[in-house]
Amino acid sequence: MESPDPAVASSTTDSSVMEALRFHGISQFVLYKYEDYRETADWLLSHTEQRPKIAIICGSGLSGLADLLDNKTVFPYKDIPHFPNSTVQGHVSQLVFGELQGKQCVCMQGRFHFYEGYDIATVTYPVRVFFLLGVETLIITNAAGGLNPKFKVGDIMLIKDHINMPGFAGQNPLCGHNDERFGVRFPCMSDAYDKDLSSLAKETAEEQGCSSFIQQGVYCMLPGPTFETIAECRVLQKLGADAVGMSTVPEVVVAHHCGLRVFGLSLITNKVVTDYNSQEKANHDEVLETTGMRTQDLQRMVSNLLAKM
Ligand code: HPA
Repeated sequence: MESPDPAVASSTTDSSVMEALRFHGISQFVLYKYEDYRETADWLLSHTEQRPKIAIICGSGLSGLADLLDNKTVFPYKDIPHFPNSTVQGHVSQLVFGELQGKQCVCMQGRFHFYEGYDIATVTYPVRVFFLLGVETLIITNAAGGLNPKFKVGDIMLIKDHINMPGFAGQNPLCGHNDERFGVRFPCMSDAYDKDLSSLAKETAEEQGCSSFIQQGVYCMLPGPTFETIAECRVLQKLGADAVGMSTVPEVVVAHHCGLRVFGLSLITNKVVTDYNSQEKANHDEVLETTGMRTQDLQRMVSNLLAKM
């Protein structure tokens, strides 16, 4: 008997089988075909004259960046064929095409998190669409907890590497059928973050007077939605992580797989708790408060970086 080809199964699998696969976390085998991403990209290309080379995924509280674009064309996710739809009430969920510093960009206002219940293929769906649009560079931002004791709340960490913790547990977005039109079966990840872009960002930050709060480090993704226990934070520190968050890594893996240059930064919104005598508790309000405090600096940094690219 022939072994089933997951790519073929995608067109024939009925919804109960899909449900079962989804339940077992292997929906990436069957959820999307090359043609779905292609149709999404072609639909967008036929609805805008913009041909962005840069995509920006805006992290929690940082979606104001998209508002800075000139000559905007806005597509709510719900109107884009095959595009995942955000279920979070009150969150902006749209793709914004436009120009920043004269460069054509596409911004995701509202991203898909694993902890919201999206499978990993859905979380990363937009990245392959960007690739098919002709995007060459992905800029990705997030809010993160500081694990490195030298980090302060409000620091901006240029991501030099990551630890894909969900990947350790089998949740790697590249598991399943590999479509060579996106990339190779066994992609190298030791160069996932573009060194030149990172240097340029550092230079930009220095020029705008932000050197006192710029850091570089390793980002570790945990699926969330729980903040980490004290023991977990201690483990992550021992593993060499400088910051911890609940996003970014799946998108970076998929972006690097299809050859996009990646620049990532984390806003350190809180210090993680590593001491059993501490009264501190990680909480979402603190995350939002710090994001508000640094939004302008971050937006200026990304905008100035674009000017230099
Ligand atoms: N842990 C995980 N994710 C986060 C944190 C944190 O402390 N802060 C912001 N996102």
